[in-house]
Amino acid sequence: MKILVVGGGGREHAIIKKLKEDKRAEEIYALPGNGGIAADAVCLGSSATDIPAAVAAARRYAVDFVVVAPDDPLVLGMVDALEAEGFPCFGPGKDAAVIEGSKAFSKDLMKKYGIPTAAYETFTDMDEALACVDACPLPVVVKADGLALGKGVLICETREAAREAVRSMMGDRMFGDSGSTVVIEEFLTGPEVSVLSFTDGETVVPMASSMDHKRALDNDQGLNTGGMGTVAPNPFYTEEIAAVCMEKIFLPTIRAMKAEGRPFRGCLYFGLMLTPNGPRVIEYNCRFGDPETQVVLPLLESSLLEVMLAVREGRLADTEVKFSGKSACCVVLASAGYPRKYEKGFPIALPETAADEHIYIAGAVEKDGKLLTNGGRVLGAAAVAETLPAAIDRAYALADRIHFDNAFCRRDIGRRALEALEEKK
Ligand code: AMP
Ligand code: GLY
Repeated sequence: MKILVVGGGGREHAIIKKLKEDKRAEEIYALPGNGGIAADAVCLGSSATDIPAAVAAARRYAVDFVVVAPDDPLVLGMVDALEAEGFPCFGPGKDAAVIEGSKAFSKDLMKKYGIPTAAYETFTDMDEALACVDACPLPVVVKADGLALGKGVLICETREAAREAVRSMMGDRMFGDSGSTVVIEEFLTGPEVSVLSFTDGETVVPMASSMDHKRALDNDQGLNTGGMGTVAPNPFYTEEIAAVCMEKIFLPTIRAMKAEGRPFRGCLYFGLMLTPNGPRVIEYNCRFGDPETQVVLPLLESSLLEVMLAVREGRLADTEVKFSGKSACCVVLASAGYPRKYEKGFPIALPETAADEHIYIAGAVEKDGKLLTNGGRVLGAAAVAETLPAAIDRAYALADRIHFDNAFCRRDIGRRALEALEEKK
């Protein structure tokens, strides 16, 4: 089979490496891909949001299957365009991707179908939003409705900060049109868990749980980023909690999307908070998480290609999706300054890797046979081991063997997970 993977980050590198384990994957194309992915796929350049380019590439290389990984092409309807041309895809159509594309949509869906989430109100009128934050309990969470590169969520401790958040989103359009509607939400507390799932619209199969580390610096200090590291499984997510989530969140969500005439086929990502009152949905994503994928897929023992085909063909119920009982950790090496300004163009020296070690390249270009840094998050150093402490040690040992000027990483990826394991004992 010839497969086209749309996207060009660490997540796509992990998807491509996993797809390649299936012998049927004879050729993989990546659009755009990146300098590191080029070792595993034919990189086509262009842009992940260029729908005509994706359709043209699918035709030109006569691909049999397309995986659309990032949120923006999904929300823009890339899957619909490719399917209309006869190219089978893994990923939701535009109608279903709205579950991530609009927070107002997903909040209203949860309210209508009784899926547990933070209490909220939606506003399109700035004066009404300001009146709401003047009266609500603090802290309060203010969210831009649309995609805002993960930055459209502000947790406000004071009334002035909340008023400022509303004004900057709705008045100054800090996040562009994403802020024409805002959601004002109750502040929840508790450990966060990411659960990615495969679903064909009828059946939902959760993958190994994981934990992201969103802040740039150790001890959850510094700015929010795309994610500085992950561990899987997440020790806060016990079997009992998993059973509650299946009954109260996963199945009801799949059924709700079907009932709305928007069946979801692809990877549905549940961002959960384990509050003292039970699990709550913080957000849905219509795609694999990054860098969650870099720890979840190395634990998948079944063929990813087979599972993705089963999702597309509506036969997930009859397909085995098996995860190993092992643990994984991914440490992101970023360019100093990320998520703000950073320099790029430094050569990356990559070591040899053992079977359970993976280097997933996120932001790099190839120039004159050399791999050069080209992004904020440059790569992920991931390792699998029998236990979580061993996986964390191995991932850091791998990260320490990788060199480029101005590299930095968090030194505490997995620390909270280890503390949770200690408390369980
Ligand atoms: P989101 O983009 O909706 O995932 O939000 C980004 C981050 O903001 C989440 O991962 C949480 O850490 C935090 N967050 C979002 N909503 C809430 C909430 N209602 N209460 C507390 N923290 C929240
Ligand atoms: N790591 C969080 C996300 O992919 O949205």
